[in-house]
Amino acid sequence: MEYKVQGSGVEDWETLILLYNSALKEIGTKVDILNDEFQHIHQYNPIEHVKMRVKTSESIVRKLKRKGLDSTIKNMQQYVSDIAGIRIICSFTSDIYRIAEMFRNQTDLKILDTKDYILAPKESGYKSYHMIVSVPIFLSDSVYDTKVEIQIRTVAMDFWASLEHKMNYKFETNVPEHIKQELYDCAKMVSALDDRMLKLNEEILKYARENSEQ
Ligand code: GTP
Ligand code: MG
Repeated sequence: MEYKVQGSGVEDWETLILLYNSALKEIGTKVDILNDEFQHIHQYNPIEHVKMRVKTSESIVRKLKRKGLDSTIKNMQQYVSDIAGIRIICSFTSDIYRIAEMFRNQTDLKILDTKDYILAPKESGYKSYHMIVSVPIFLSDSVYDTKVEIQIRTVAMDFWASLEHKMNYKFETNVPEHIKQELYDCAKMVSALDDRMLKLNEEILKYARENSEQ
């Protein structure tokens, strides 16, 4: 049997979903390993929890339609970067960059795109760190680079984003102006809270270090 070093894409829906499920398993394992190692070195878990999902077929088709594209397997692989999505929730903003850096250092991953909505929040107030990576998936006769969208955010950012998402869903496109403003103000409070909690944590760590040296 000839082993194709690099598949040029799969052609059927079942294999496509198999690839994306496998890609989530690979990234999920990487996250577990990083968390375990962190616990081992620093006696601290940077990751609060992890959520993963494969986009539904309806949602993939809707996204392609929005982009004016036909619902072909090829277009799905080429133009929809978030069929496999993983969300990593951390305690502190500093953890987000630490985790992103750890992904960047993994030579089997290709970093296709990064968006830092913490440094530059969206107009809505949305903050999060996004990466599109591809991970090689080894099937019986070929290996396929498979895209995964990684979203990394704090617990507070996640709380805000979930609520905002729910609102948008409820109101569809016509979110009342005062609700938009209120959400934007809450986003500011989330940022202030994250900053204060980070400083507080640093102070606690410093205190603990100084006391253990005595
Ligand atoms: P899509 O929006 O997915 O078509 O891709 P994009 O190229 O615009 O990427 P972006 O990084 O802006 O968004 C990707 C994902 O981030 C979305 O599917 C959401 O899960 C999340 N996201 C982006 N913006 C917002 C926002 O304003 N509010 C919330 N709640 N989530 C957002
Ligand atoms: Mg978007």
